[in-house]
Amino acid sequence: MTQTLYVISCAAPPARHVTTGIRAAQARGWDVALVLTPAAHRWSVEEAAGETELDQLRELTGHPVRHTYKLPSQSDVLPSPDALLVAPATLNTTTKWAAGHADTLALGLITEALGLPLPVVALPYINAAQAQHPALAPAVATLRKAGVRYLLGDGQEPDGFTPHPPKNGRVEAYPWGFALDVLDELTGRPLQADSDA
Ligand SMILES: Cc1cc2nc3c(=O)[nH]c(=O)nc-3n(C[C@H](O)[C@H](O)[C@H](O)COP(=O)(O)O)c2cc1C
Repeated sequence: MTQTLYVISCAAPPARHVTTGIRAAQARGWDVALVLTPAAHRWSVEEAAGETELDQLRELTGHPVRHTYKLPSQSDVLPSPDALLVAPATLNTTTKWAAGHADTLALGLITEALGLPLPVVALPYINAAQAQHPALAPAVATLRKAGVRYLLGDGQEPDGFTPHPPKNGRVEAYPWGFALDVLDELTGRPLQADSDA
């Protein structure tokens, strides 16, 4: 049976290329549902031609692209997730997530997921100056202790994302494929030889 992967994208440059990650996940058999933070949603609307990009993302995933909580009376429009991938994960969402903030739909989903038996992987996109902020390391440690595979390149995740010098990000090298490999590992799905996304 097809499993559903929630891709939760925050407002960092790889969010402008989220189709790369979505297509790579779909190629591995995932049904992908995209959830944007409100800031990432604003980028999708205002940096692109109005709602067109969201229409394309809806078409690509086959699901509405959500960024706000539903009203209590409204029904769920997405299937339940089998796994979650937070990518790109910003400094902002990472530290709020670890502190238990749930004031966006994205944070609501990923804070709750820590208490559910679901694989959760986070792939940050954070520059080296942001990475020096004293809130980051404790947040990453908290999330890892709660079971998140937080793919910041360090002693625990040597193959994870290495922060770049400010204004020198390489969005084309963002390792979507590595995050999907980790999800495969966590879910017992076959590892793909092709991890070039
Ligand atoms: C052009 C631009 C690039 C940014 N790049 C990053 C980034 O690479 N990593 C990051 O953590 N924040 C980055 N930010 C800051 C986030 O967009 C900002 O903290 C935002 O509030 C994040 O909200 P979210 O975590 O809810 O998506 C960037 C902001 C701008 C305007």
